[in-house]
Amino acid sequence: MMFAALRGRPLGGRHLGSAAVAITDASMLSEDDRHITLWSLYELHYGGFEDVDDRWEWECAALSVRQVLEAELESRLRELTSPYVRTVWDGSGGVAERLFALVEQVEGPSVARFVRSIYNLKEADPHTWAIPRLFGAPKVALAELQYDEYGAGRPERQHAQLFADTMTACGLDCSYGAYINDVPASTLAVSNLMSMFGLNRRLRGASMGHLAAFEATSSLPARDVSAGLSRLGLGAAAPYFDEHIEADAVHEQVAARNICQALAEQDPRLLEDIAFGAAACLMVDQQAAEHTLSAWRSGRSALRAPAASPTDDLVLQP
Ligand SMILES: [Fe+2]
Ligand SMILES: [Fe+2]
Repeated sequence: MMFAALRGRPLGGRHLGSAAVAITDASMLSEDDRHITLWSLYELHYGGFEDVDDRWEWECAALSVRQVLEAELESRLRELTSPYVRTVWDGSGGVAERLFALVEQVEGPSVARFVRSIYNLKEADPHTWAIPRLFGAPKVALAELQYDEYGAGRPERQHAQLFADTMTACGLDCSYGAYINDVPASTLAVSNLMSMFGLNRRLRGASMGHLAAFEATSSLPARDVSAGLSRLGLGAAAPYFDEHIEADAVHEQVAARNICQALAEQDPRLLEDIAFGAAACLMVDQQAAEHTLSAWRSGRSALRAPAASPTDDLVLQP
């Protein structure tokens, strides 16, 4: 449906007609379909697809579907996170301390302890959208953090490349999106959330709050995963995690203090969204982890069961 429309010619500003697809209400789609559709629409802004005209990126028809799906995702998460946002808002101390307290407060398993290839093969890109939307000290701090994520001048040290190397060492296919049809909605939500924050300027505070929570939940799990890989004789897969033990111990401070705290000082109205982004990151991460772990504990795969009818795949750019 949506995918078939994307394979066709862009509509030159016209809305998708009934012959193609007109998604006017998110409830028209299942959760799996909402997230794979949103993920595909976001991909138009990243690497795109071999069989989709690049002009679809700014087609009204695609953007209007995206808006419907984003509105549902955002309002659901605003409601879910509101008690946590309030604790940050009402908290005492600096913004950074309040964000660290939030991370402590949201208990539960973290998917960072495991593998999340759907995001990691474009690691850092969703937060990069915020750079031109910030100014002054927070912009400089974000550029510094992202420079690290992109390998600090060394392509082979790009975190996305290190993750691809990890996948290869584990016998997995590291080509971008190779497993996109296998992952459940809860995993796609992890990726879609940060794209939604990154691609909407009004949500720049949420994007940076998300970054702070993401970085603050990465360093310690990276240590555990690295140790586990070594125990299993998969030391060749460990450099990605080794890199994050130290890098993210620094990044969590940069993100919480030099970006989020500085941003809230520049514009106190952004504090609520900074807290929303951080809380949403933790909740969505937790939901993905719960889904994965409950499947594993009951001896099942956390991946989606094969679709009854073949998915109408698009071909991602390499
Ligand atoms: Fe990283
Ligand atoms: Fe990082």
